[in-house]
Amino acid sequence: MIVESTPIETLSLVELFAPAREGLAAVETRLREVVKDQHEMLTAATEHLLDSGGKRIRPAVALLSTQMFGGDIERAVALASAVEMLHTATLVHDDLIDGSLLRRGIPTLNSNWSPDSTVLTGDYLFARAASFAAQTDSVRVMDLFAETLMVIVNGEITQKFSSKGSFGRDDYYRRIRAKTASMFALAAEAGAVLGKASEADTQSMRRFGIEVGVAFQIVDDVLDFVASPESIGKPVGSDLQQGLLTLPALCFLEANPDDPIAQEFFNGHKRNRDLSLQVVRAVRDSGAVEAAMQEAYSYARNGQRALDSMPAGDHLQSLLGMADFIVTRDL
Ligand code: IPE
Ligand code: IPE
Ligand code: MG
Ligand code: MG
Repeated sequence: MIVESTPIETLSLVELFAPAREGLAAVETRLREVVKDQHEMLTAATEHLLDSGGKRIRPAVALLSTQMFGGDIERAVALASAVEMLHTATLVHDDLIDGSLLRRGIPTLNSNWSPDSTVLTGDYLFARAASFAAQTDSVRVMDLFAETLMVIVNGEITQKFSSKGSFGRDDYYRRIRAKTASMFALAAEAGAVLGKASEADTQSMRRFGIEVGVAFQIVDDVLDFVASPESIGKPVGSDLQQGLLTLPALCFLEANPDDPIAQEFFNGHKRNRDLSLQVVRAVRDSGAVEAAMQEAYSYARNGQRALDSMPAGDHLQSLLGMADFIVTRDL
């Protein structure tokens, strides 16, 4: 058992999502709604993105959280749609910024379209996400939504400007809290708001979101070292190639400060593909991946602990299981 004291650990996403199945089906429909006068390119891009799949973890968290507190399903669907659309929009811009050509096993928008069309499509999706957030009829949720988007953009720009210098664990954690955990926190906290949970429970849900969101990004960063491109649907080894230091690399450097290949890669000016693949191999074959995963397990466990006093039932079980899934997934 990887995450201690958890009732569910090996359930698939389909099983974990079961209590939110109807809501998730409604979200798929909402995400595909075509707005009046929407340009056909925007419709085609949205369909391309939605058809490519995606795990739908964030909308599931939003639905499970709202429903666990007995919140209205219509408003839960609006929130979940807002969160997934926000996620989709950030991916469109992220892939453009990272120069990524493959996501979810298919070509990214930026691989086929000009940067201006890609940026504009991303902008449109951000606005769609905001309009879904407004449909929750909650000013507090809209406020959380706007705040989250500011935090994400701030995190991404911080990442961009720190990737050239040297940085450590604190910077890493600050940046993943901003760019990834904030969206999980939005899903979990806003769900509690819609369910009219007590302020203490609302803050516990926020804590859950932050902890599992951090675990989620650590695992994404580990998968960039150990996964096959087929299973994750995007290239591997790309973080180092872009000069981006993530937790596995940080753990490796802490344990092997004098490693000659890493020295040449990080301190020298040779950032070619061959050298970065050698560093990827060195990190993969060291204890660094396991060390990073231990940190992910610990965040997932803390997320589960934040749910200690939540209303018992299927929704709670799914949220607990989701924390396990996040650290055992290979996709
Ligand atoms: C990818 O998130 C972006 C990160 C925060 C690492 P997901 O792995 O949830 O992406 P999809 O939606 O399932 O493709
Ligand atoms: C997460 O970071 C991206 C966003 C918060 C938008 P990554 O850059 O690691 O995500 P992937 O690996 O491209 O999915
Ligand atoms: Mg990326
Ligand atoms: Mg990544």
